[in-house]
Amino acid sequence: MKGIVLAGGTGSRLYPLTKVTNKHLLPVGSKPMIYYPIEKLTGAGIEEILIVTGTEHMGSVVNLLGSGKDFGCRFTYKVQDEAGGIAQALGLAENFAAGDAMTVILGDNVFQDDLGEAVASYPGKGASIMLKEVDDPTRYGVAELDGNRIIGIEEKPSKPKSRLCVTGVYMYDTEVFDYIRTLKPSGRGELEITDVNNHYIHKGSMRFSVMKGWWTDAGTPESLRRANELIYQMKNG
Ligand code: G1P
Repeated sequence: MKGIVLAGGTGSRLYPLTKVTNKHLLPVGSKPMIYYPIEKLTGAGIEEILIVTGTEHMGSVVNLLGSGKDFGCRFTYKVQDEAGGIAQALGLAENFAAGDAMTVILGDNVFQDDLGEAVASYPGKGASIMLKEVDDPTRYGVAELDGNRIIGIEEKPSKPKSRLCVTGVYMYDTEVFDYIRTLKPSGRGELEITDVNNHYIHKGSMRFSVMKGWWTDAGTPESLRRANELIYQMKNG
């Protein structure tokens, strides 16, 4: 199993905090945000990790993270030339994955659960996602369930069919790259990870689990504050 941290995008929702730096380098608790997804991957025993980020702050990202020896892993870096969406960023990982399955984490996702169990139970084929119940589902990809089957995901729906948001933790087999090549940009001009996930759902090869502990993204001023609070509370028992 390989690991991928997607840390591109313009961070526009956090402007001007992101005027001179990458969103994923902003502080959460006592560490840069990107440390959290990396530590989730290494904590699950993943040692080969690809970091995808934009051209503007790649230098700072490499300066911060280095080879991976401080984290007990090996980093590979890949540049995403334009902010073309999560699925576009993932498409850059094909050579790195080299036929292996991968666990993908969005660089602004901060959460409590260990990924060890999810990684160990991934069957090596198909896709697997992690869901979490949230109060504001309209901000996210939202899952529709039929009993214990997932039947669809809607990206930022105005009338969400559940309160289960799709977190930024995904597992895929190597077939994901063939599908990404067929994607067309969405209304917001991006290749959407939700389209990739719906493809696996329609093929009947999507599994899911629901996170037990807290989860947040940190991509808006409010959620960045929340991520800091949750980390602070956890540190202080
Ligand atoms: C992205 C995904 C969305 C997912 C969210 C989780 O949203 O498109 O499906 O629920 O990450 O963090 P974005 O941050 O691009 O708005």
